Amino acid sequence: MSKDSTNSPFYDADSTIYDSQRWESKAGARVNRVQQEILADLTSGWGGSKVLEIGPGTARFTIPLCRMGCKVTILDISPGMLTVAQDNLKKAGVDENLEAAIEGSVYELPFEDNSFDHAFTFNVLNHLEHAGTAIKELARVTKPGSTLLFNFANLNSYFWAAGNKINKSSRAVGQDVYSIWERPSEVRKMIEEAGLDLIGKRGNVHTPRAMEKCHLGPVVNILDTLSRSGPMRPMAPVQYCLCQKRS
Ligand SMILES: C[S@@+](CC[C@H](N)C(=O)[O-])C[C@H]1O[C@@H](n2cnc3c(N)ncnc32)[C@H](O)[C@@H]1O
Repeated sequence: MSKDSTNSPFYDADSTIYDSQRWESKAGARVNRVQQEILADLTSGWGGSKVLEIGPGTARFTIPLCRMGCKVTILDISPGMLTVAQDNLKKAGVDENLEAAIEGSVYELPFEDNSFDHAFTFNVLNHLEHAGTAIKELARVTKPGSTLLFNFANLNSYFWAAGNKINKSSRAVGQDVYSIWERPSEVRKMIEEAGLDLIGKRGNVHTPRAMEKCHLGPVVNILDTLSRSGPMRPMAPVQYCLCQKRS
């Protein structure tokens, strides 16, 4: 059995509390805001295109993509998450831009080669045992010349000790879901093997959920600002990769 087979039951149970537990605290709201900024920054120009999003969760990124005029197909392994995502898209009044909501795994995408203009997944690769296989599948279903955007948890970061602890147990801190932090050199290899070129990078320093009560806000804010791009970016615990499929 694959180590990430816990993903579907975990996220089904998590789907109704996912937003309130993660994004409503002060630190959580800040992480959400920063991630939305990075999404907007790296997807400018996607408006009107056909986008595949893997692991939308509760649709917090699907909503802005639909607002940009993208025609979005979402695919998630958790039926519970898909139900909440569709409700949230309806509440936001953007569900007419949802092309399809499909239950399935990123490892076996039910789409023809070259079906999408762009592909996108945030906060999912860090829950996959085989991130390289997932990136290859994303590359297969997107058109040559199109862009793919994803993030991963960086083992070689300021939070190395936390990443190392998570990798030893294969579990997120305090949560029974498969988790892994990757070495950037390994991710570069996955990108290369999927036939992609890395064309944009960003870094983000978040407050780990287990440390939200430690009042680290001001320190994290400064470190995050300094690590978004430039020489400190490689040390940020969350790395964002904008890739282009070779023609
Ligand atoms: C941490 S949540 C992220 C949700 C959303 N992208 C966000 O950042 O708010 C991970 C999501 O990926 C989905 N997921 C996990 N493993 C998957 C797989 N193998 N194939 C497709 N979706 C998967 C989960 O069900 C969940 O919705």
